[in-house]
Amino acid sequence: MAVRRLASEAIQPASFAFDAENLAWAKTVIARYPEGRQASAVIPLLWRAQEQHDYWLPKAAIEYVAEMLGMAYIRVLEVATFYTMFNLEPVGRFFVQLCGTTPCRLRGADDIIKVCHDRIGDQRHVTADGNFSWLEVECLGACCNAPMVQINNDYYEDLTAENFTKLLDDLAAGRPVKKGSQIGRTASEPVGELTTLTDASLYDGSVVGAWRKRFEEEAAKAEAPVDTQAIAAQAAAEPKPAKPSSARPEQASDTPAHRVAAGKAPVSKAKKAGAADKNKTDATAPELPLGEEPKKTARKKAEKADESKG
Ligand code: FES
Repeated sequence: MAVRRLASEAIQPASFAFDAENLAWAKTVIARYPEGRQASAVIPLLWRAQEQHDYWLPKAAIEYVAEMLGMAYIRVLEVATFYTMFNLEPVGRFFVQLCGTTPCRLRGADDIIKVCHDRIGDQRHVTADGNFSWLEVECLGACCNAPMVQINNDYYEDLTAENFTKLLDDLAAGRPVKKGSQIGRTASEPVGELTTLTDASLYDGSVVGAWRKRFEEEAAKAEAPVDTQAIAAQAAAEPKPAKPSSARPEQASDTPAHRVAAGKAPVSKAKKAGAADKNKTDATAPELPLGEEPKKTARKKAEKADESKG
């Protein structure tokens, strides 16, 4: 990555201002942001300034945008020098950004670089007719169709030395050119015939599409007309009870009435109060029939009676 500096003072224009159309556009963009957040418009405004100024940003344009947004000049300069989409020096009418990252290198980017050197010259050099300049950049995200270049706003892919040379010739001569793949590929489909996912069973629902077949069957079933006669016949054959089935188990119940009916003593107040106290609760104590005292209590009563007799 080259050091990104402003162009030399010798070629910097004295001033910059948006033309009427761009000024009106800039005001609508700035108005999209709430008061105090106008700085959010810095990238679109810099981009529009670059487009107006032959695709490069002079210092005066950076100052102009900073003033328009109420930003410090250094803040806008930081943005302009950070993002490589902003050109800080003049570029050709056709600015070639050539991808030099590994996939493009493996697919022949070196041949394309050689054409650039032979036809245009060194990187960042603008041809005498002003038509071309070029720059090697990192991956432009079209690796499937490597090698490739971006010229102004368009991609040109599947390049060879021959078709790239012809492309430059056509651009210079003003002839129409084909954007995208130069060998007729649609998007990033394979070169030549399909070599993967060719098994027909992948698409008939017998392998990976089984779920789809099931969904279609269920959808067809849901849309089928209702057979009321069959439903009536089934209802007659299997009548449903009006009340819950007698086979349903009774809910356990421990109300005082249930305990009396079962011959158990009602739960005393003391026992209820002690239920919350784990230490006082004897969960293992057997239930006594109604009217029967615990053995311990009966024995104490008998001992007291003997004492009073004696
Ligand atoms: S490596 Fe060239 S486009 Fe990704």
